[in-house]
Amino acid sequence: MPENKNTEFDRPGGYATPKGAILVQAKAAKALLEADIRLLGDEVPSHAAPASTVEPAYRADDPDTRLYVGDCRDVLPNLPDRGEVDLVFADPPFNWDVPYDEWKDGMPRAAFERFTFDWLDACVDCLAPHGSIWVNIPDDTCAEIVMHLKRRGLTMINWCVWHFRFGQHRDSSFIMSKVHALYFAKDPANRIWNPDAVLEQSDRAAIYNDPRTQAKSSHAGMRVPMDVWYGPYWGRIQGNNKERRHRHHNQIPEVYLERVILACSNEGGLVLDPFCGSGTTSTVARAWNRRSITTEYGAGNAESAWERIKTIGMLRKGQSSGGSSAIAPKRGPTATA
Ligand SMILES: C[S@@+](CC[C@H](N)C(=O)[O-])C[C@H]1O[C@@H](n2cnc3c(N)ncnc32)[C@H](O)[C@@H]1O
Repeated sequence: MPENKNTEFDRPGGYATPKGAILVQAKAAKALLEADIRLLGDEVPSHAAPASTVEPAYRADDPDTRLYVGDCRDVLPNLPDRGEVDLVFADPPFNWDVPYDEWKDGMPRAAFERFTFDWLDACVDCLAPHGSIWVNIPDDTCAEIVMHLKRRGLTMINWCVWHFRFGQHRDSSFIMSKVHALYFAKDPANRIWNPDAVLEQSDRAAIYNDPRTQAKSSHAGMRVPMDVWYGPYWGRIQGNNKERRHRHHNQIPEVYLERVILACSNEGGLVLDPFCGSGTTSTVARAWNRRSITTEYGAGNAESAWERIKTIGMLRKGQSSGGSSAIAPKRGPTATA
């Protein structure tokens, strides 16, 4: 029997291109908004943020960069920029008993889910109508975040995976080698999306020397990155890595934030990170001339992050794009091996 190939690449719902998947999800968003989705954290009352004027503890100009010290659930609802943020990047505490400066990272599960929904809501309320949100989250809370953003009416654009390989042998289960990078938009048809700013070499160019890709009239030998991210400078920030900020836990590589910020914001745009940590988001945003707001619960963390944001700056600017993520050696017509 002849193979029935899908050749309608723009067909809504088609599996050949994510464009179809996004259209289908956008249609489903309204139904999900109205559905009665119940999650464990719904049993706990929402956090009540006091109405107050908030002032940044640290501030710099050109571009405007602000760091607020406090609980993001209290600061975000009082920001003067609510409804104007182009891009949120959030790397929250995972409730894994990590010794963060002042934040206690060990809540009962229902309270942690409520905390998660509360900061997600505060972020969504800060977004402009064209805004996007990225969340860095491991397996155990990923599903709840996906469902919460869907019931808030947002549309998933990509479910990316950040893959790292530093894990050691363990007897109990497979080694954890990924965190999810969830990308949602308020309005998928009207969002900031700059694929040309983040291109990498395609495997056809980098491995197979395929002349057809070099002959293309645009993006010759290049492509938008895949949804699994790994490679040089993409590992966990450990040991003597020059990006490392000591006493900070779960620091994210600069290349990760560079890809997100370049793809989903424009120069002069406004980026928000509710969980500053070592300040990776604002450091990269500043290097690429984006305005940024970040909040940090621990005063000591905030002081150290500000030194990085304001004085040290980005160390690997431009390293997230242009190269190849190929995992096989070169072969094809001009390969030497
Ligand atoms: C996973 S780390 C963020 C790491 C950051 N992405 C980086 O690259 O350095 C989470 C940070 O959020 C802070 N934090 C925890 N709960 C918070 C809250 N409710 N409001 C603001 N910051 C909070 C912690 O102190 C910690 O520094």
